[in-house]
Amino acid sequence: MPSNEPVLVTGAAGGQQGSTGRHVVRLLLEQGQAVRALVRSDDARAAALRKLGAEVVVGDLREITDVLAAVRGVRRAFFTYPVTGGLLDAAGAFAAAARRAGLERVVEVSQLAAAPDAGTPRMRQHWVAEEVFDWAGIGAVHLRAGVFFENLDFLVRAGGGRELAMPLGPLDTVLPLISGEDVARVGAGLLTDPLPKCPDPVVLLTGQILTVGEVVETYGRGLKYVDVSPEEWRERATELYGDTHVVAHLDKLWELFRLIGSHHELYEVTPSIERFGGRAPGTLREFVRGR
Ligand SMILES: NC(=O)c1ccc[n+]([C@@H]2O[C@H](COP(=O)([O-])OP(=O)(O)OC[C@H]3O[C@@H](n4cnc5c(N)ncnc54)[C@H](OP(=O)(O)O)[C@@H]3O)[C@@H](O)[C@H]2O)c1
Repeated sequence: MPSNEPVLVTGAAGGQQGSTGRHVVRLLLEQGQAVRALVRSDDARAAALRKLGAEVVVGDLREITDVLAAVRGVRRAFFTYPVTGGLLDAAGAFAAAARRAGLERVVEVSQLAAAPDAGTPRMRQHWVAEEVFDWAGIGAVHLRAGVFFENLDFLVRAGGGRELAMPLGPLDTVLPLISGEDVARVGAGLLTDPLPKCPDPVVLLTGQILTVGEVVETYGRGLKYVDVSPEEWRERATELYGDTHVVAHLDKLWELFRLIGSHHELYEVTPSIERFGGRAPGTLREFVRGR
């Protein structure tokens, strides 16, 4: 149900991971919903958001004065923060500001297996962030998403489209996947849902379950999977991402998938994508064709 009161969307410029915020801005504007887009820099991406019709505000999610200004006059917001250091600073500032401004719904991006004993430090941070959002009493909804197609695509591109080098073990290792756009579609659906309260504050999001073999087959064009050792992966990843937080997270994440192999209770396509996003999940094949 569109309203003239803007919905605040963070991460609105979109980055290297899933550009979820950028997709949410577009989807909301397409529905006639007013949007306030928070960006970190007033650059060409910000200009593109203005052109689409969003009100653009510039700020750092870790800085409470910026966040307090951004939430003024809004009742609903989308929160996302990339895989890098500072998630808990940003979540703390956002939860405090949203509580002070009396927000009724904050839809935030988390990870599929967020838990206090989850296998990667980032997933454990996501669980802490979820708790902070819950304590704030701001109608928080946690989008617990599987691996973004964009995450694999970044590695395919890094391998020149010829090889996908990851420490995932055999070709039948399974990955729970989703497109950043589908995460955004669910976010936009929940942000425009007229019901004042979301029936479940945790929404699991997986759009497709594929083996590593199926991933390379989907890309085709001779793409080869190279099962690199964890040590080699760390070395390559350090150079590729240049961010110790990313390396520490992905290092453990790929190890988890390798150890799990092909069966886990979370490995299923979730009905939530169609229910809140309004259509069946996109496939990796569609994503690759649309790049
Ligand atoms: N990648 C995966 O496979 C995966 C899977 C499941 C869940 N997730 C979760 O998805 C989230 C990231 O997804 P995403 O699509 O939003 O990432 P993204 O495409 O990298 O976008 C991140 C956005 O946040 C902005 N930003 C970064 N630091 C900021 C700051 N301090 N203040 C204000 N804005 C800031 C970036 O702006 P600039 O570009 O200008 O810095 C960018 O626009 C993470 O929480 C991650 O754990 C990821």
